This record gives sequence, structure tokens and C-alpha cells, in this order.
Amino acid sequence: MHIETLAVHAGHHPDAATGAVSPPIHLSTTFAREADGTLPHGFIYARSDNPTRRELERSLAALEGGETAIAFASGMAATAAVFQSMLPGEHVVAPQDAYYGTARLLREVMAGWGLASTLVDMTDPHAVAEAVTPNTRLIWIETPSNPTLAVTDIARVASIARAAGARCVCDNTWATPLLQRPLALGCDLVMHSTTKYLGGHSDLTGGALVTPEDDDWAARLRTLQALGGGVPSAFDCWLLMRGIRSLAWRMRGHCENAAIVAAFLARHQAVAAVHYPGLASDPGHAVAARQMTGFGGMVSVQVKGGAEAALDVVRRVKLFTRATSLGGPESLIEHRASVEGPESRTPPGLLRLSIGLEHPDDLVEDLDQALRGAATRL
Ligand SMILES: Cc1ncc(COP(=O)(O)O)c(C=O)c1O
Repeated sequence: MHIETLAVHAGHHPDAATGAVSPPIHLSTTFAREADGTLPHGFIYARSDNPTRRELERSLAALEGGETAIAFASGMAATAAVFQSMLPGEHVVAPQDAYYGTARLLREVMAGWGLASTLVDMTDPHAVAEAVTPNTRLIWIETPSNPTLAVTDIARVASIARAAGARCVCDNTWATPLLQRPLALGCDLVMHSTTKYLGGHSDLTGGALVTPEDDDWAARLRTLQALGGGVPSAFDCWLLMRGIRSLAWRMRGHCENAAIVAAFLARHQAVAAVHYPGLASDPGHAVAARQMTGFGGMVSVQVKGGAEAALDVVRRVKLFTRATSLGGPESLIEHRASVEGPESRTPPGLLRLSIGLEHPDDLVEDLDQALRGAATRL
């Protein structure tokens, strides 16, 4: 079945008890036993498993073409479970421009647990191969990356991982399963912050892991879900299932608008550089065109005049909302270096744009007036 159809139907069926087409939200934390002590429906306690989460996990597994999905309370809870499934003394290779929370988790939490890590330029397969040590058990990919939209060749890095006896994990948050299928390209696990495009409405936090097989590693991750306890509420599971139903059509709108905004910015006199893999001039374009079916809704732009000019653009926008996060219907703008703090590697003049579902002409007009206004002050 095509992904549009899976997005609408996977995990959904009329409720057996009532015929309700929209699924019920199962708020119960506990489930009744029969007189003989058995659990007739297989549920015991909501942290371990609950009916709403189970349907969501079915939907997520189907979307990514995996066998098992494991839902978490946030993308970071899902990421933490992956690293916690590893042993002290093992080593991770991760991108130097990974989402800053992922890099901080490795540095500030997992290093103390004995998990070593090396951050590399993931777009350079030779650098990745060189960073592998005899203890490397995991290579973490994030493509396109946050916030510079660097593109990693997934199949190439997955084969480096396989040759090294390591697992390859892809953070597929920005691309979504609609645009990129990491399991089909050789990855062993896909991670999502479902807070973003999968939820799609800026109203839930969630994370997910999807594995190609229901193997020992999947069982370990499920144990970490239940015992770590970083599980999503039934209501957030329901919101996510509702968001997923329109994923395909929302993503088409995000991609279409982002391509228009990126092309406009690339021509603008106040702009020093645009990061968008859909632009033919982008260094990641060829790989992205090979492994993605669309280039996504995120665009980063470097403004001439550095941090001061970039912050002035942020002050001047009228339609874009000044806020972090991404993947909702409303367009967002953010000066990333300010958010990431002193450790940030992000260029000081970079603004990250989450391109929403408004009319693209209105977005272009807003950016144009903000860029022109900021440029007059330089
Ligand atoms: C690429 C990427 N991965 C992971 C995360 C973390 O997800 P969450 O905020 O749901 O914990 C984010 C959040 O912005 C992200 O952009």
C-alpha cells in the first residue's frame, strides 16, 4: 500500500464496542483481570502498554516500513533509550551538526555512563570511516541536519556501520517517512521526534523508534520504554494518530512552500547563503535527490551582517512566529546560535525557518520586508 493510504488507515479501525470511526482515547492506567487472574486483553498497566499507544505504534511501524515501533514521551526520550541500550565502554560516531540536544546528551549524560562518542562531518564518508574504533557499536545519522541541512549519504554510512559491526540509526525527524525511508537504505533503526511533522500541529511532544525486525534489540528498547517510563500520554498518542492521517498532504505543502521561499532567498541581496537541499546549488542536492522524494519544509538562511542583522530580521517579521520547534502549520523563525548557547557551532548570522502551510506569497512578502528593513541599518 502507498504511504498516503497507510497514513490514513494503519492503526485505525472502527471501534469494536461502539463503531466509532475516530479511535477512543484509553485513559485507564490499569486493566481488569478475570477471576482466574488472567488479563483477557493483554494489557496490565498503562506505562507498560495501553491500547491507544499500541495502535499508534502500529501506524508508526507501517509508515517507516518497519516491524516494531516504540513510542516515547519526546524525541529526546527515544534518543536516550537508544544510547541506554548500549554498554559502558562502547563508542558512538555522531554528526558534528546533530540536533544540539543529541550532542549534549552524549557529552553531558552518556559520557558519565561510560559511552564514548566522536562527532564527525557525516557528509564525508572518509571522516566517518576514520572515526570508527574497535569499540564502535553505533553510527548516528541525522539528515537533513539541524540547523544547517547538511545531507548524509544514508546507504554509504549504513554500509560503513555494517562493515564495522556497528548499528546505524537515522534521526528521520526532518524528512519524515514520506520523503525518506532509512530502513530501506540499510539503517537498523529510525528515530523520530514526533513533536514535529508527524504530529504536525505544534500541540504534542513525542518520540518514536522503529526497527526493521522484532528482535532482541527491539525487546531491549521496549524494556527501556517501560522501565525508563518516558512514555507518551494516551491523549498525545491520539493527537499524533490524528496528525499522521494528513502527513502526506501536509508534507507536500511544506515542500512546495519551502522550495519557493528558498529560491526567493537565494536571489535576495541581503542574504549571504541559503541552506536547502532542494536548491541545485546546495552541496547536498545530488545525494538528497537520490535518497529523498522531496526536500522538506526546513530552510536555513545566513543573513549578511552576521548575528546583529539576523536578530534584526527576527524582530521585523510580522507573519512568521518567533519560536523554536518546527513542523506545524504556522511558519516559525529562530536565531539558532542564541538558542544553542556558547557551545553552538551554528554560524552567527543563521536563521532557521520552519516553512508552514500559509500561502507562499505571504511568506515571501514578510521575509522581504524584514530583510530590506534590516539591510537599511547595515
Ligand atoms: C532533528 C531533531 N531530533 C530530535 C529532536 C528532539 O525532539 P524532542 O524535542 O521531541 O525531544 C529535535 C527537536 O527539535 C530535532 O529537531
